Amino acid sequence: MSAQEQELFALAKEARESAYAPYSDFKVGAALLGESGTIYLGCNVENASFGLTVCAERVALFKALSEGERVFKAIAIYAGSKSVPPCGACLQVMAEFGDLDILLFDSKGSYVKWRISELLPQAFRLND
Ligand code: THU
Repeated sequence: MSAQEQELFALAKEARESAYAPYSDFKVGAALLGESGTIYLGCNVENASFGLTVCAERVALFKALSEGERVFKAIAIYAGSKSVPPCGACLQVMAEFGDLDILLFDSKGSYVKWRISELLPQAFRLND
């Protein structure tokens, strides 16, 4: 694992501390590396109207997009003892902005790396 990946993992773990997940109690943190070198953090944010919940990945991505970042290199995701790939909705939203690396790790030390195109090979696109 590269030093940069280690940093992303540490930041995803830190981001998870802010998760607002009173309904599922399933806390997720994400750290997204933009082309500029800036790292954007995200955590899941739930709501009493369950369907309004937003995943950690999209929170990180929307923070980055709202600050002008458009190209991404990697996203690290941490959910504690269970390693989780991004949900289909997050894959679709991330695929819009390139084929970044998805770095998954858990508290037991497992580490897996995917590309978005491996997890969602047929992302919906309008313009190609
Ligand atoms: N969740 C994420 O934040 N990211 C994922 O990749 C999968 C699911 C959140 C949404 C919800 O708050 C909780 O995990 C349980 O689904």
